[in-house]
Amino acid sequence: MSEGAPGAPPLHLHRVLVRLGEAIILEDVSFEIEPGCFLAVVGPNGAGKSTLVKVALGLITPQRGHAALFGTVAGASPERVGYVPQLKTFDRSFPATALELVVSGLRRSWPTRIGVAEREQARAALARVGAEHLELRQLARLSGGELQRVYLARALVRRPSLVLLDEPATGVDFLAEHDLYDLLEGYQRDTGASVAMVTHDLAAARYHADRVLVLNRRVHGFGPPDEVLCEPCLERAFGHHGHHHALAF
Ligand SMILES: Nc1ncnc2c1ncn2[C@@H]1O[C@H](COP(=O)(O)OP(=O)(O)OP(=O)(O)O)[C@@H](O)[C@H]1O
Ligand SMILES: [Mg+2]
Repeated sequence: MSEGAPGAPPLHLHRVLVRLGEAIILEDVSFEIEPGCFLAVVGPNGAGKSTLVKVALGLITPQRGHAALFGTVAGASPERVGYVPQLKTFDRSFPATALELVVSGLRRSWPTRIGVAEREQARAALARVGAEHLELRQLARLSGGELQRVYLARALVRRPSLVLLDEPATGVDFLAEHDLYDLLEGYQRDTGASVAMVTHDLAAARYHADRVLVLNRRVHGFGPPDEVLCEPCLERAFGHHGHHHALAF
């Protein structure tokens, strides 16, 4: 298992180009974050945010450029990465319990039998996100916010060095936003891990992030929130109809 180069950035993209079918989804995307960083990725619907996350996970290989995590090619060290997917793409009818979903974060394959140690690890992860009571619940019978919490437990169960979250708070009321940020910031304090989160909440990005990436196919801004979440930069990325995103900070 590759440990990567010492001191290498947790996430580094260099001139990434992704084409899906005829369309160019990401073009010339370059940035990197330092260890311990909280990165917020913002941009309008269809901007390529989820595609960027999939590139970081190694699920999509860029046609040009490259993505590296801890100095090794994206996808090479899945045990170092926790992932909370965008839930609107998730099939809830999948027959599994919350505990099984969390244990699947410890493995590369779906668990058919769960060992005692794995069960304890998964229970501890559920407890850390306040979801221990959901252990035996079928996924189909979880609320959106409960499912989000279980996914967060799954993402953190292996104590990853990088946590990727794709709109973890969208449409969720059970998991109040400040709880999610408290959890992530506490996890970062304990472990020194880095976090990259796709979000539509610009106010939260301004408040919590060390770095913000404004994406709309290309990088329209990257840097500290105060520098990047400015009107010209957001207008370039969101267009003139995007004023509802430009919250009062
Ligand atoms: N497999 C695919 N084949 C072709 N086009 C795709 C594919 N997956 C995504 N796209 C297109 O790529 C673009 C970017 O999609 P992506 O899901 O990355 O956007 P996003 O920024 O995450 O949007 P949202 O805010 O709605 O989640 C969209 O126009 C989408 O239609
Ligand atoms: Mg998306």
